[in-house]
Amino acid sequence: MAILKIQVLVLTTMTVISALFVDAGDKNSVFSPCADTTVQRSDGFSLGIAFATTVAFFYNNTLQLSPCDKRLSLSTANSQLALFRPKVDEISLLTINTTTNFSPGSYGGYMVAFAGRKYAARSPVAFVANSTYTVTSFTLVLEFKKGVLQNLYWKRDGCASCSASSNFVCLNNQDCAIKTSSCKNQGGSVDCSLGIQLTFSGTDKHEAVLNSWYEVKNLRQYSLYGVYSDLKASLTSQYSSFF
Ligand SMILES: *[C@@H]1O[C@H](CO)[C@@H](O)[C@H](O)[C@H]1NC(C)=O
Ligand SMILES: *[C@@H]1O[C@H](CO)[C@@H](O)[C@H](O)[C@H]1NC(C)=O
Ligand SMILES: *[C@@H]1O[C@H](CO)[C@@H](O)[C@H](O)[C@H]1NC(C)=O
Repeated sequence: MAILKIQVLVLTTMTVISALFVDAGDKNSVFSPCADTTVQRSDGFSLGIAFATTVAFFYNNTLQLSPCDKRLSLSTANSQLALFRPKVDEISLLTINTTTNFSPGSYGGYMVAFAGRKYAARSPVAFVANSTYTVTSFTLVLEFKKGVLQNLYWKRDGCASCSASSNFVCLNNQDCAIKTSSCKNQGGSVDCSLGIQLTFSGTDKHEAVLNSWYEVKNLRQYSLYGVYSDLKASLTSQYSSFF
C-alpha cells in the first residue's frame, strides 16, 4: 500500500510571503518561481501566487501574461506575492492566513498562480474577494509533461461543497463564497483564510505518472481527514466533497 504524505504549507505573514522548505528528497536546485526547471517525483517545486486586480494581469488589456513578465509591472501595482515550495506529486494544502494583516480584497481581489519563464505557465485569473464576497477554497491542478510544467488551472466543483453550509453562497455556478462581512479581518467571526489544494497530473522527467489527483479521490482510506481537520472549518468545509 502506498504511503501517502501530506503537506500543509501555512503562510502567516505577508509582504513577500514565502514558505520555502528544503527537504532531503528534493533534488531540484531551482528556487525562483520565475525560472524553468525539470522535476521528478518528490522534488520541491517553486510556485507563486500573485494577488492584484484583474487588469493588472493583462498586457494592453488583452493578453494575460505570467506575473514574472516585466511588461506587467506588477511590482509597482497594488499587488502581493506568495511563494510556496510544495513537493511534486504530494497532496498539499497551501494556506494563506488572512485573519491578521493580509486581506485579498485590499489587493485587487483576484489571484493568478504561476511558475516558469520560457515555459511561463499561469493559471486563469480567479476571483478571491471583494467587499461583498470572499472565496476561501480552491483546487489548483499542476500539469507536467516529462517534468516540465505545461499548464496551471483551477478545478471547480460547481458549488457542490456550498450545500454543506448555509453560510456559503454559490457565485457564477463555480465558487462557494462567504459574506466578507463575516470574516475576521472585517470584524466578523469566520476565519476566511485561503486554502489552495494542489493536485499534480501528467508525467515527471522519468515519465513516471503523477497521480496525486487520483489519491485525493481515495483519501478516506488513508485517514488524512484528521490532518486537515486541524485547520479551521472555513478551510476544511470545502474538502468535505472529497471525503
Ligand atoms: C494594444 O491593443 C490595441 C487594440 O486592441 C492594438 O491596436 C495595439 O496594437 C496593441 N498594442 C500593443 C503594443 O500590442
Ligand atoms: C490564522 O492566524 C490566527 C492568529 O494567529 C489563528 O488564530 C488562526 O487559527 C489561523 N488560521 C489558520 C487557518 O491557520
Ligand atoms: C463582488 O463580486 C461578486 C462576484 O464576482 C459580484 O457579483 C459583486 O457585484 C461584487 N461586488 C462588489 C461590491 O464589487
